[in-house]
Amino acid sequence: MNVLDLLRPEIRELVPYQPASSAIDALRLNANETPWREIGDKTHRGLNRYPPARPTELATRLAARYGVEPEQILVTRGSSEAIDLIVRSTCRTGKDNILVLTPGFAMYGVYAKVQGAGVKQLALSEADGFRLDAEALLATIDTNTRAVFLCSPNNPTGNAFDRDAINAVVAGLANRAMVVIDEAYREFSDQDCVDLLEYPHVALLRTLSKAYGLAGIRCGALLTHPRLIGALGAVLPPYNLPTPCIELAMASLDPEANSAAGERIRLLRSERARLARALVDLPGVERVFPSDANFLLVRVVDAMNWDQALQRQGILVRRFEGDPSLDGCLRITVGRPEDNDRLLEILAKGADS
Ligand SMILES: Cc1ncc(COP(=O)(O)O)c(C=O)c1O
Repeated sequence: MNVLDLLRPEIRELVPYQPASSAIDALRLNANETPWREIGDKTHRGLNRYPPARPTELATRLAARYGVEPEQILVTRGSSEAIDLIVRSTCRTGKDNILVLTPGFAMYGVYAKVQGAGVKQLALSEADGFRLDAEALLATIDTNTRAVFLCSPNNPTGNAFDRDAINAVVAGLANRAMVVIDEAYREFSDQDCVDLLEYPHVALLRTLSKAYGLAGIRCGALLTHPRLIGALGAVLPPYNLPTPCIELAMASLDPEANSAAGERIRLLRSERARLARALVDLPGVERVFPSDANFLLVRVVDAMNWDQALQRQGILVRRFEGDPSLDGCLRITVGRPEDNDRLLEILAKGADS
């Protein structure tokens, strides 16, 4: 199979836009920019200049971090943009569909609906530890399923899926549909799926928003087969990442920043374990689900009351109103040690405090 057959015919045939040269060591009279910098412009490149159409230097550095080749990466505005890009590029409106697992990250379905694509859902069973059932998944798709989203570690359940099950999904979908493994929380887990990129129909999503503390710069990455990167790159608008974001992302890759991030990740992982142990012992807590991410899904006796008690004390957690499978659950992001202490102190007083 030609790997480009995974994409819509129109996308395969797109001729990429040719942006103006992004070089700044020349007299730039090619892009209708203003020659002076704005007051307060602290960027290296200058905000009067367009950013590079594609941040190739950042892409090369991120590729090295993720252990892939520069031709296997596309830098996107958060991994959110990569999800949208895949849905738009694979699904024909009114004909095709994606498959998602529930409970799961709701945005896959939103992007599919915007594209006019169908959304098939496969429920993860709480009784089964929200385990991925590859056989059930393969039985749920049809010939119009163009992309399957596996979020591992899964938001909001927190668990990473078993590698054998992921492998079975990848094997079952070869030459049929893309398998998108959303690894937004990968850094908090012992597992990654980067080896699966040897299969051309596999795409991985990564982000600087979670473990690297840069949600505000909107920088994510799509990792997949070089030919798909080329074709999907033609769909993305040029200059999609603003100059300050590129420069801040580059700075975060410096060894010093990188090792500080590593320390923070270690601390959050140990706080996750501490918080889980403490929550289990609280009255009213029915279950703390095992987590490979930077949050815990907790089933409590009265989620609404707990949520409101926390809000009264200025603490926000996530409750899933309108999702029956998560009725009674709260998703709590692991904070700094002092934040977790404060949370536990309030919860220890009970939901009516
Ligand atoms: C599983 C998952 N994927 C993707 C995203 C999007 O993240 P971003 O666009 O900030 O990279 C999120 C954000 O919460 C998420 O939980």
